[in-house]
Amino acid sequence: MTVLYNADYRCSVSERARDFYGVTTVVERIQDGHPEANDRAMFSGQIPHGVQFTSPERRRMLTTYYGPATGVGRTLMWIRQLPNARVGLIGLGAGTLANYAEPGQHYRFYEINPAVERLARRHFWSLADCRGEVEVVLGDARLSLERESPNRFSALVLDAFSGDAIPTHLLTAEAFAIYRKHLTRDGVIAVHISNGYLNLQPVVQGVAQAYDFGMVRISTRGDDSKTTYHADWMLLSQDARFLLAQAGAGQPETASARSILWTDDFSDLFSILK
Ligand SMILES: C[S@@+](CC[C@H](N)C(=O)[O-])C[C@H]1O[C@@H](n2cnc3c(N)ncnc32)[C@H](O)[C@@H]1O
Repeated sequence: MTVLYNADYRCSVSERARDFYGVTTVVERIQDGHPEANDRAMFSGQIPHGVQFTSPERRRMLTTYYGPATGVGRTLMWIRQLPNARVGLIGLGAGTLANYAEPGQHYRFYEINPAVERLARRHFWSLADCRGEVEVVLGDARLSLERESPNRFSALVLDAFSGDAIPTHLLTAEAFAIYRKHLTRDGVIAVHISNGYLNLQPVVQGVAQAYDFGMVRISTRGDDSKTTYHADWMLLSQDARFLLAQAGAGQPETASARSILWTDDFSDLFSILK
């Protein structure tokens, strides 16, 4: 579990929004004597939705679950080779992942909570600093994607799992049928599965097998000095070259691990309790 407020910081709340989705807070965190460590964080309840350093030299650093060595970091670095790539991202938070976009690339975030977009634009630089084109589509990501014509995403990032609350409808066979419609042939789906209580790997594996995706799981350690956390990502793709390039960094899936296929009619959190 990540420590959010600790004795090293002086914290003050910059803004708090209360709505149907709960309480979203932006907190300024100051470390006396270490200005380079000062940062700004967005929380939903106690769960971090993104952290950005406030010093101009460090504000583009990829923090929390999104460093370059993580599964999503490796995916978006790979996509950087594709000049006009389009990337879909489910879950905006502070918009940290926008820092990976290159000029000419198009990042499209899907975000359910309007307060998150407002706070991200008002208190964080990631969207304003983005070198590519970036846009935010408000609403439930699955419903938005269902309505849209194929987006030809080179990568689709699933990062809507707010801590231990799991939007199960984003992990079913029917949801992945929608995601697949929006992917290029060699596209990658990156699924964030860091979770203290649930092991989501069998579920992601279930949909990967159902749709014939190869996969790799990448787990990386955190580093306090960079404000990165332990992160677990699963990467799904039909591009053997991409998967092979990641294999050294993660653990290629073994056939013996169990798989569970969730559908809109069946999901079971008890069976994946750690
Ligand atoms: C951990 S944050 C994402 C952080 C982000 N990827 C970044 O680059 O900083 C998770 C976000 O997912 C959003 N979310 C949760 N369920 C969603 C859904 N069904 N559709 C779209 N967004 C959703 C939450 O409101 C929250 O802003």
